[in-house]
Amino acid sequence: MKRVVVTGAAGFLGSHLCDRLIAEGCLVVGIDNLITGDLKNIEHLFDNERFSFQKNDVSNFVHVSGDLDFIFHFASPASPIDYLKIPIQTLKVGSLGIHNCLGLAKDKGAITYGIVNVVGSSISPTK
Ligand SMILES: NC(=O)c1ccc[n+]([C@@H]2O[C@H](COP(=O)([O-])OP(=O)(O)OC[C@H]3O[C@@H](n4cnc5c(N)ncnc54)[C@H](O)[C@@H]3O)[C@@H](O)[C@H]2O)c1
Repeated sequence: MKRVVVTGAAGFLGSHLCDRLIAEGCLVVGIDNLITGDLKNIEHLFDNERFSFQKNDVSNFVHVSGDLDFIFHFASPASPIDYLKIPIQTLKVGSLGIHNCLGLAKDKGAITYGIVNVVGSSISPTK
């Protein structure tokens, strides 16, 4: 059984990704600081034994105990309106957040996937 981290788990894409990964049989650790997301998007998962949630700003640190196979980094404000409202947080999560997730991936030997706003909306795997 694969164990997976999803950052931005309470957001639009992250919450659907959590649903899909759990349906595929994964153990999912969702992380979100709720700056633009909403717990309502994942509250249906709180009773699911395959799901756990950490309220945490990934720009500060990311710590997950135990083994990990994949990290999906989807934590980032997504709209130009949000970028203008919270520009520093947006830049931090697109730089320090990615840095912290890659550090966790290196520590765990996990593969990281991210949607990277700073270089365009592309999905690219890194090891
Ligand atoms: N929605 C789309 O159609 C779409 C398309 C292409 C790319 N993207 C990109 O995908 C990413 C996610 O988009 P979305 O629509 O799910 O946005 P969203 O705002 O719904 O979700 C982002 C989530 O990340 C969380 N977050 C932000 N900063 C954080 C931090 N520092 N630490 C922890 N959590 C943090 C927010 O609280 C939110 O729950 C963005 O980078 C966006 O640009 C989205």
